Amino acid sequence: MMKLTVKDPDGEAVDLLVYFVTESSENMPACQSVPVKKALKQAWKAGDFSGRAGQVFLFYPPAATGNRGAALRAGRVLVVGLGGPEEDRAGRREQLRRAGGTAVGQAGKLQAAVMLAVLPGSTGLDADEAAECLCEGLVLGNYRFARYKHKKTDREDEQPGQVEQFVLHDGGLPHAAVRRGMERGCRAALAACTARDMANEPGNSWTPDRFAGFGRDLARRSVLKCTVLGKAAMAELGMGGILAVNQGSVLPPRLVILEYRTGKKNPTLMLVGKGLTFDSGGLSLKPAAGMEAMKYDMCGGAAVFTAMQAVAEERPTGVNLVALVPATENMCGARAVKPGDIITHYNGKTTEVVNTDAEGRLILADALAYGIDRFKPDAVIDLATLTGAVIIGLGHHRTGLLANNDGLAERLLLAGELCGEPLWRLPLGKEYSKQLKSEIADLKNVGGRPAGTITAAAYLQEFVGDTAWAHLDIAGTAWDFTKKSYVPEKGPSGVGTRTLLTLIRNW
Ligand code: BES
Ligand code: MN
Ligand code: ZN
Repeated sequence: MMKLTVKDPDGEAVDLLVYFVTESSENMPACQSVPVKKALKQAWKAGDFSGRAGQVFLFYPPAATGNRGAALRAGRVLVVGLGGPEEDRAGRREQLRRAGGTAVGQAGKLQAAVMLAVLPGSTGLDADEAAECLCEGLVLGNYRFARYKHKKTDREDEQPGQVEQFVLHDGGLPHAAVRRGMERGCRAALAACTARDMANEPGNSWTPDRFAGFGRDLARRSVLKCTVLGKAAMAELGMGGILAVNQGSVLPPRLVILEYRTGKKNPTLMLVGKGLTFDSGGLSLKPAAGMEAMKYDMCGGAAVFTAMQAVAEERPTGVNLVALVPATENMCGARAVKPGDIITHYNGKTTEVVNTDAEGRLILADALAYGIDRFKPDAVIDLATLTGAVIIGLGHHRTGLLANNDGLAERLLLAGELCGEPLWRLPLGKEYSKQLKSEIADLKNVGGRPAGTITAAAYLQEFVGDTAWAHLDIAGTAWDFTKKSYVPEKGPSGVGTRTLLTLIRNW
């Protein structure tokens, strides 16, 4: 979907030609193109454009003026402000991502199908990193989900268009590095867009079996290995948590496992994603208002598997990866698990199910215990839309991070910062774990209202033993995430995919 060019951008007859400029306090922002600079000067003198972040300046180049050679051949030219120089690397990366999102947002409004973007020359980043982040912004910002809308309806609603072909110009930066960055950025962004697609699919389409299908397809066309456990295998293994949650559903559960191997000597990182394809709450039924959003309860699974998709394409060295997605619905059929029922997890621990709506931890507990037992990973990360409480605590702006290992937590905080998906760490501790004590079983599945996000994590902690582990509660960020030019205001964000990929790339 993206091509790299070395041809003079001003001579290309594209629908939209885009330049990016840095804001400077006194001077006119610098631009690589002579004819664009002329137009820019007018806009700057008029006080209309300074290069502020998010600011744009569109013009229609005058018809070609014979043989002077300086004419612009694009249908439209857009200049996008990057803002002033950012202090740190993460800030500079985000600046480019947002500028890419802004550019593609304008292209959408203009219904431009072919966009040529010129990489800015001085971003304070290496060429590959600049290209990576700009491309991420372009591809993520270009995302639409229109599967269930007829084309005609789209036009009547004046839905924004989508860029069909991106062309990137290296802006004079080292070509090979730009290509490398472009490929990395596109790969990561397309993986996150796939996660958004999975989440956008309704519960009657994205069922537990779809996770199995996705895993199998991915394995068929890559070096990954896929294993799917069904209900019988789960019963054999004693996965009482997944089975209990699944009891009220007519769709069978799946535990889908993807493996990426680079060598026995390398460390193994295990990823686990909550794949709850619809959460009605079970017998502890959720209120009707907003329940439709519970089709998104599989976003942890989506993040984990799409990160594996990017891994399969990129083939990083030095790390083994195992990804597990426990997938089921949480419904209230006649056989549904009941409040007060006691279940036995894979590791033998018993739980009194006080609230059937606290189901995520029940399926994750089995997946964590089983995965650690079977794959002996050096570190484990799980992602889940686990608690409404994390939205109360952190809003829609940061993913909640809880970990039993400071090193792993630090790595995740950094990865999130670098990819524009910030995290915030919350504590764990005996006081919180105590809230999960049951009168009748080893544990109960809810710890009361106080510290709901922490007690949910404390529940998971019971199933990881001494293994280095981190839990990401993405309930606030998986959809309706902080509005940004490259993240849709409504609907799934694809959060987690790029955090994991960033972490894996730097492992
Ligand atoms: N999937 C929900 C968490 C959730 C809530 C995600 C709102 C996004 C928005 C989870 O399964 C759940 O229902 N959690 C309960 C736990 C409670 C019963 C202890 C919650 O947060 O209310
Ligand atoms: Mn629930
Ligand atoms: Zn849930």
